[in-house]
Amino acid sequence: MKILAIESSCDETACAVVEDGRTVLSNVISSQADLHHLFGGVVPEIASRKHVEAIVPVLRSGLAEAGLSWPDIDCLAVTCGPGLVGALLVGVSFAKGLAQALNKPLIPVHHLAAHLAANYLNSPELEPPFMALIVSGGHSHIVLVKDYCDFEVLARTRDDAAGEAFDKISRALGLGYPGGPLIDAIAASGNPEAVAFPKTRLADHSLDFSFSGLKTAALNELNRQQLQADPEAVKQGRYDTRLADFCSSYQHAVVSELASHAVTACSALGVNRLALAGGVAANHGLRQLLSRLTVQNEISLFIPPVQLCTDNAAMVGAMACYCPQPPDLDSWDAQPSLDLEDWSREQTQAFIQRGRLAIS
Ligand code: KG4
Ligand code: ZN
Repeated sequence: MKILAIESSCDETACAVVEDGRTVLSNVISSQADLHHLFGGVVPEIASRKHVEAIVPVLRSGLAEAGLSWPDIDCLAVTCGPGLVGALLVGVSFAKGLAQALNKPLIPVHHLAAHLAANYLNSPELEPPFMALIVSGGHSHIVLVKDYCDFEVLARTRDDAAGEAFDKISRALGLGYPGGPLIDAIAASGNPEAVAFPKTRLADHSLDFSFSGLKTAALNELNRQQLQADPEAVKQGRYDTRLADFCSSYQHAVVSELASHAVTACSALGVNRLALAGGVAANHGLRQLLSRLTVQNEISLFIPPVQLCTDNAAMVGAMACYCPQPPDLDSWDAQPSLDLEDWSREQTQAFIQRGRLAIS
C-alpha cells in the first residue's frame, strides 16, 4: 500500500510517499527555520502563510520524487494535531480537498505517534510492546507503547519541553532558533562537567520531567559569566571555551534527566526495548548517553537517523499504516491540543467499532 503523507504542524511543510508503512519512496521537507530564526522562535501567523505558499510545490515534489502519479497512491495521511492551529489547518484542509477530489481514503495522524513511527522506517524489526522517549519542541513524554495505536503516557514534563529548554537558553545566549542543533554543535567541544547545574528532584519521586529550575540556574550562570554568543562567529565555528563549556554542561544536565528517567521506566516495568523519537532525539549528547545507559541496563535501543527525528512526513506515512480510517471527512478536524492518550483511546474505539481489536 502506498500512502502519501502531509505534515504541517509547526514550521516544516513536508510530503512523503511511504510503502507498506516501512519503506520511504520520497521525503520532501520545506523548512521555514531560517525565517523564524530572525524572531528567535516560530511566529504562528508567518508559519501559516508560508505553509500555504509551500504546500503545492512540496506535494508535487513528493509525488515526483517517488516516481509516481496520483492513480498509484492508495491512501492519504495528514498530521491532525497537536501543533499550531493555523499551520495544522493548512495541511488538514488541503488533504481533505485532495481526498475528496481523488476519491481516496484520508487518515488523520497524531504528531507524536508519527514521531515514534520514524523508528519503524529504520528498524523494520521493531514491533510493540516497547518503551518510548518522545522529546520535541512542545512535548517530553515517556510512553509505554502497548500496541501500534495504544499508548500509556507514564511521564510528561511539568513545565518546559526538552526542545524548549534548548530553544530558550539559545535565545538568551543570542544564538536564535532552533536552539537545539546550535547548542548541540557548540557542546561537542566543551566540558560537560565545567558548570555544576542542579539536578531536578520532584517531591513525589515521579518520572515526570521539570526543566524550569535548570533554566533559571542556567540564566543565572549566563548573567554571572556575562556570557553572550555572536551567531555569525558561531556559524564559522569561532567561539571561546567558556561558551563551549556552558553549552556542554547545560546539554548534559538536560539529557541526563531525559535518559535517566527513560531507563528507570524500562527497569521499573521490566521492558527491555526503548525507542527514542522527536526533534531532540537528534541531539548527539542524548544519543550517546542513552546508548551507554541502555547497554549497561541490557535494554535494546532504537534511534531514527537524524533527518527522521525532526519534523517530516515520512513518519506520518509510517504511522498511518496502523491507524483506522475515520467514517468520513467531516468526523474529524485539526486539533491543536490533541492529547496522545485521548487520541489512543479514540483509535481503540474505532478499531472496536470495526470488529478489530488494537490490543492483542
Ligand atoms: O519534533 P520537532 O522537529 O518539532 C516539534 O514537534 O516540536 O522538534 C523541534 C525541537 C526544537 O526545540 C529543536 O531545538 C529541537 O527539536 N532539536 C534539537 C536538536 N535538533 C532539533 N534539540 C537538541 N539537539 C538537537 N540536535
Ligand atoms: Zn515534531
